[in-house]
Amino acid sequence: MNRRDLIQRVLLGGAVLVMVPSVLDSCTKDSTTDPAGPGPGSKINLDLTLPANAALTSTGGSVVSQGIIVINSGGGNYVALSSTCTHQGCTVAYNSGAGNIQCPCHGSIYATTGNVIQGPAPRALASYPVSLSGNILSISL
Ligand code: FES
Repeated sequence: MNRRDLIQRVLLGGAVLVMVPSVLDSCTKDSTTDPAGPGPGSKINLDLTLPANAALTSTGGSVVSQGIIVINSGGGNYVALSSTCTHQGCTVAYNSGAGNIQCPCHGSIYATTGNVIQGPAPRALASYPVSLSGNILSISL
């Protein structure tokens, strides 16, 4: 090995050492972009002052966020249910006129408790506790 080969090898080795941490870092999981969304034990906080959540400031208003349908049921009460139909997974929607939750795919209807009123949905929507502190609505998953 001559002097030129030695210098090339040292420079190449240095370049590899510089690149390895950035390559490894790109393989780590970024929890802020988890496509599965929040899991059990976590919370979803909705700021009622944000335009995206404005519907929740009126009785009968609803918002779907992160797989949860949140409904202002009146009297300062809120309901949070899974927005995923238990039949085949379509996203359900709150019908404030009828006071129930409907699936657009095959017509299942749920009560605001999550219970099935009309199939083919085989079981109730999952329900989650909701609390309001100031303008922040917290849903405990
Ligand atoms: S997916 Fe909702 S009724 Fe079929």
